[in-house]
Amino acid sequence: MSADKLAKMTWDNLPFSEEFIFDLHKDFSNLTTNLTEVQKKLLIESPNEFNTNVSNNWLNELHLKLKASPGFVLIKTGDLFTDEELRCIYALCCRSLGLLNNLYGYFYDVIDQGLDFTKKAIPVSMTSASTGYHTDSTAKNYLPDIVGLLCLYPGAVGGDSLLTNAANLYNHLYQNFLNELKLMQNPIIRDVITPGTTNSAETIIENAFPIFSFPNEGFTFRYMRFWIESAYQKTGQIMPKELIQGLNETDLFFSSSQNHLQYRLERGDILLLNNRFICHNRTAFENNTESSASHRKLVRSWINFE
Ligand SMILES: [Fe+2]
Repeated sequence: MSADKLAKMTWDNLPFSEEFIFDLHKDFSNLTTNLTEVQKKLLIESPNEFNTNVSNNWLNELHLKLKASPGFVLIKTGDLFTDEELRCIYALCCRSLGLLNNLYGYFYDVIDQGLDFTKKAIPVSMTSASTGYHTDSTAKNYLPDIVGLLCLYPGAVGGDSLLTNAANLYNHLYQNFLNELKLMQNPIIRDVITPGTTNSAETIIENAFPIFSFPNEGFTFRYMRFWIESAYQKTGQIMPKELIQGLNETDLFFSSSQNHLQYRLERGDILLLNNRFICHNRTAFENNTESSASHRKLVRSWINFE
């Protein structure tokens, strides 16, 4: 890919809040208020069949912010809406950006299900643990362009969102760790955790794809260290030294406070991020034990540009 294209994705500084925070446009709240029950059902249950028809400069601006630096947006909807209204507004925003994926459900509730991803091959989204820096989807043949998160309840403590930029990481590795970077452009095995798949040594070996790739002269970064390491363990393979070094440098780069943003989502916040070059993380969280109604609840969507 051209240096020019990569430069459009990289952050010169950590993005300022004015660059990525948007207030919800009134077209979206008005449209939600005017939806019939039948339209609401269609929007939530079969969003790809719902024709949004929303076209305005605000939406164009979102597209631009998502396709190049900063690569993410945070939409503030305020605190006036009910859960159902927030879900509809969120669905409209997601559908206005592209087609939604149904692998986990179009709108997947991210809540702590009391499970432990280090003991069983399940998505970290089912736990309260820190996820580590990652991009979404460990399946070789599916990658969402955009990851959407709606915050319904932020939870009692923790659960902050962290965002970092893999285009910046690429430049860092290119300048300082070229051998490691080259290795990270070869197919690398990943554990198999997607619903409806079989977790075996054979399927893991088949589930190999590069960390950095350049499909159609674009830039794609696919990363979650835990699932790479567990793939090597389960298949009895030894991780190459350069790969371990490359992953160490990746984590070191992302963890530096100069290279990531930390933000605690509030109720009604909609975070949309480009899953091809923005890498995300979540700090561990705790729920208030007295009231399960206020347990942390985010709604996740996977979106692909049409
Ligand atoms: Fe994620």
